[in-house]
Amino acid sequence: MAFTIAIDGPAAAGKGTISKAVAAHFGYAHLDTGLLYRAVGRRMLDGVDPLEAATSLMARDLDATDLRSPEVAQAASRVAVIPEVRAALVDFQHAFARRDGGAVLDGRDIGTVICPDAEAKLFVTASAEVRAERRFRELREKGVETSFDTVLADVRERDARDMDRAAAPMKPAEDAVLIDTSDLTIEDAVAAAIAAVVEKG
Ligand code: C5P
Repeated sequence: MAFTIAIDGPAAAGKGTISKAVAAHFGYAHLDTGLLYRAVGRRMLDGVDPLEAATSLMARDLDATDLRSPEVAQAASRVAVIPEVRAALVDFQHAFARRDGGAVLDGRDIGTVICPDAEAKLFVTASAEVRAERRFRELREKGVETSFDTVLADVRERDARDMDRAAAPMKPAEDAVLIDTSDLTIEDAVAAAIAAVVEKG
C-alpha cells in the first residue's frame, strides 16, 4: 500500500509527533506543511513581502532553526490568511503528496483542500488548555521565558485566526477520523492513528 495520509489539527495537539511516527511506521516521507508558512512568516518579519517570499521559497528555507519560535508561529498564521500565499505553496505540497512510496502531510487544510483524495485522513485535536500546557513545557525546556497564560492566549489567538479565515479554514474533512489526544499518552495516540490508517487500507 502506498497511500497519501493527511493529518490536520490545531497547534500542539500532537500532530507533528503522530505524523512522524506514522510516516516511520509505514516507511513514508513526511512533510510538515506548517514549516512552509513559518518560512514565509519568518521572511515577512525580515521585511520581505509575503507573496514574494512564498513564490521564491526554497527547500533550504525550511531548515532554519528559528522557525519554531512563538513569534514566527504568529507570523505564519498571519501570512496563512492570504489566498495568494496559500496558492503559491500548493504545487510544492502536491508534488510531495504524489511522490512514489507514500507520503504523510500534516497541516490545517491537507484533508480538505490540498489532498481531498488522500486515502486516509486524520484530524488530531486536544483541548486548548492541554495544548497550551504542552507548548508551555516545551518552551520552558528550551529556556524560553514565558507564562502559561501567555501561551494559552497565543494558542487561542492562532486557533481563532486559523478557523475563521475565508481561505482554507482549519476544519476536519467530512471523512476524517478524529483523534482527541487530551487524555492519551503519546504511545496511545500514535497507536490510534496507525490503527485508523490500517482500517482505511
Ligand atoms: O503547524 P504549525 O503550527 O507549524 O503552523 C503554523 C501556522 O501555519 C498555523 O497556525 C497556520 O496558520 C498555518 N498553516 C496553514 N495551513 C497548513 C499548515 C499551517 O494555514 N497546512
